[in-house]
Amino acid sequence: MCENINFIDLNEKEIELVLSWRNDERIKKWMHTREDISLASHLKFIESLKSDTSKDYFLVKKEDEYLGVIDLNRDFLGIYANPDKKRVGDVLLERIIAFAFRDKKLPLLKAEVYKENLSAIKLYKRFGFKVKDEDENILNMELENENR
Ligand SMILES: CC(C)(COP(=O)(O)OP(=O)(O)OC[C@H]1O[C@@H](n2cnc3c(N)ncnc32)[C@H](O)[C@@H]1OP(=O)(O)O)[C@@H](O)C(=O)NCCC(=O)NCCS
Repeated sequence: MCENINFIDLNEKEIELVLSWRNDERIKKWMHTREDISLASHLKFIESLKSDTSKDYFLVKKEDEYLGVIDLNRDFLGIYANPDKKRVGDVLLERIIAFAFRDKKLPLLKAEVYKENLSAIKLYKRFGFKVKDEDENILNMELENENR
């Protein structure tokens, strides 16, 4: 059984696990914020989510394994896998798509991805995301609910 644990319900161990992934070189190199995040600012961010209705963050757990993190920030998705796991992208992306379209009823889901991030681009394309726009470094991709 797979579950989405909302960041505001994480226990202490889970908070530290998520922070260790977010500060892992293999994850942070693909994020807009590349500096290490301190525990204090991580906790402050989690606290801020309680009153911020535009952002939803989840830790995805399957049985006793933690697979990764998914989030929705307005209509932009975010995703990162547990750096010690391979090929969990499909499960994670499926769950954020379901959250966006089924729970939040969004008509459109967007992803912003560095052009060098081939694993992420391949993953989004497998699920039908289309490139809508690009600049020197970034692809803007979109998935329409009705065209899936
Ligand atoms: C983006 C991310 C979630 C993708 O996860 P993933 O699809 O499971 O892919 P992995 O990185 O584990 O890829 C392993 C390889 O297996 C391939 N693969 C994964 N699932 C597959 C499937 N179901 N069928 C065929 N190939 C698959 C991938 O394309 C990848 O191939 P490559 O090595 O030729 O690039 C993961 O790489 C990640 O967390 N990256 C860091 C954070 C990040 O970049 N987030 C996205 C920001 S926009």
